[in-house]
Amino acid sequence: MSATNPDSDLRFDGRVAIVTGAGRGLGRAHALLLARRGAKVVVNDLGGTKEGDGRDEGPANDAVREIVAAGGTAVSDTNDVGREEGCHALVDHTVREFGRVDIVVNNAGISRFATFPEADAENLERTLDVHVRGTWHTTRAAWPYMVEQGYGRVVTTTSTGMFGLPDNLAYATAKGALIGFTRSLAQAAGPHGILVNSIAPNAVTRPSTSTKPNITTTQMDDARLEAMRTDLVSPMVGYLAHEDCQVNGEILVAGARRFARWFLGVTPGYRSPSDGAPTIEEIAAHWDEINDQSGYQVPENLYAWAAEFMDHLGR
Ligand code: NAI
Repeated sequence: MSATNPDSDLRFDGRVAIVTGAGRGLGRAHALLLARRGAKVVVNDLGGTKEGDGRDEGPANDAVREIVAAGGTAVSDTNDVGREEGCHALVDHTVREFGRVDIVVNNAGISRFATFPEADAENLERTLDVHVRGTWHTTRAAWPYMVEQGYGRVVTTTSTGMFGLPDNLAYATAKGALIGFTRSLAQAAGPHGILVNSIAPNAVTRPSTSTKPNITTTQMDDARLEAMRTDLVSPMVGYLAHEDCQVNGEILVAGARRFARWFLGVTPGYRSPSDGAPTIEEIAAHWDEINDQSGYQVPENLYAWAAEFMDHLGR
């Protein structure tokens, strides 16, 4: 491992970070990195099963012990971010303990593998509660402090499962929602000195080592398992959480020592020349043109998309 230099490294001295779900897995690696670089960290973790059942103070306390043993500063918080009052209690706890909140890493997650017809209302709600509402309410509770400071860094956690994860429908749905949240809040956040970005991590953790998923430790050789360590994701979170970072509203994929931008693009498409209403047959006839990816647009926001998509109408 390369040596770090406290004078030139990107550090977080004086910064206060909340990392949700930081008792285990990726969140723990993020919390350890931020604390090692000087941040005061609130290690939030309810400590339930990977499906989100039960609770246990052990993981959060254990992560705090590891941070403190390494010379860092951290406190444990076992509030449930799947409930609005838990998110507010977490932020209140942070401000009471450390006086401010600069960084929120919304990482807590559960995974309840099911598709239709088994994926029922409870499956959806429980999944949305932690991933979407947890991110929404925790960020919203921290928001006034960040606006007041004129500074903040928010990281949400999406998933490449959004590309299509048929056997975990609610999870992919929730992760998709977080992309809309991240990109939209980023637009509102910028003028306040707050940046909001999303990470799509890849690492071997509890959810990927049990039951149904295709990626299991039994299918991986030692080199792959080593490359899928959680701490190989955290540097991207650290960068997005840092003052020097000016990226806003982006989605970054990280894992296996690979880092990439994931973007939303639109093809230039087909423009109907007819004055009347386009027909179904016209759509069918121009399908290749509609799908042709050359010259695609990566809009910054709705307005940028609309300006280009409607430009054939003139001003
Ligand atoms: P993990 O199960 O090892 O860690 C998640 C932690 O969140 C657990 O310690 C759990 O107790 C905590 N948690 C769950 N519900 C909570 C709640 N309501 N309140 C407070 N804490 C709660 O899972 P992992 O893999 O570390 O996942 C972290 C995040 O990364 C999740 O959002 C997950 O969806 C996401 N992710 C992970 C991928 C991977 O490759 N491991 C891939 C894509 C996304």
